[in-house]
Amino acid sequence: MRIDIIAAVPELLDSTLNHSMMKRAQDKGLLEIHTHDLRQYGIGNYRQIDDYSYGGGAGMVMKVEPIFECIEILKAERTYDEIIYMTPDGDVLTQSTVNFLSLQKNLIILCGHYKGVDQRVRDRLITREISIGDYVLSGGELAAAILTDAIGRLIPGVLNDECSALEDSFQDNLLAPPVYTRPAKYRDMDVPTVLLSGHDARIREWRENMAWEITKRKRPDLLEE
Ligand code: 6GU
Repeated sequence: MRIDIIAAVPELLDSTLNHSMMKRAQDKGLLEIHTHDLRQYGIGNYRQIDDYSYGGGAGMVMKVEPIFECIEILKAERTYDEIIYMTPDGDVLTQSTVNFLSLQKNLIILCGHYKGVDQRVRDRLITREISIGDYVLSGGELAAAILTDAIGRLIPGVLNDECSALEDSFQDNLLAPPVYTRPAKYRDMDVPTVLLSGHDARIREWRENMAWEITKRKRPDLLEE
């Protein structure tokens, strides 16, 4: 899978996406992440990428030309399945969207900045608009890094234990059950005995029950979906 990320501050992506699991995914050749500095497509000697908002009002708007130019260059090389714009007024990201996106071959992610991008970019180029939650970040880069991480870890072979992604919180609209590791007793705290029993069926049942109870207590909204 290939993900091209267009950003005003690509340094914010390079540091987060070149470590840990996303680094391993890239080293294994399972994921290609290409970041693009929008300023390289900026206008004039100052490589301008933002400008005043027509009609007035506070805040700058990302200019239409650099974004069109960058995306058109990419589209000339390959077909993209989705061109995603990261914006606080997009659809709030869910695991099912992440699952869908992880099955695609080529994605472009455009990071918003300032007051957002010229509407003509959204009207003509963007196929999907994504927010990571109901709060505002100073730019879309961190949101794009989160989206890329969530997608990347689902690519087959990226996780060591292929099954473990299926057991994540949210994969079945349930939160994950509690987990324990050695020692079995620490101070006055014991690991639930069923987990030490070696009885697979009982352990599975315990985990399912706990997942239900925890979801009911913390996130009853998930059970209604
Ligand atoms: Cl995608 N961008 C920004 N700037 N803020 C956000 C967001 C995205 N998602 C939630 N808040």
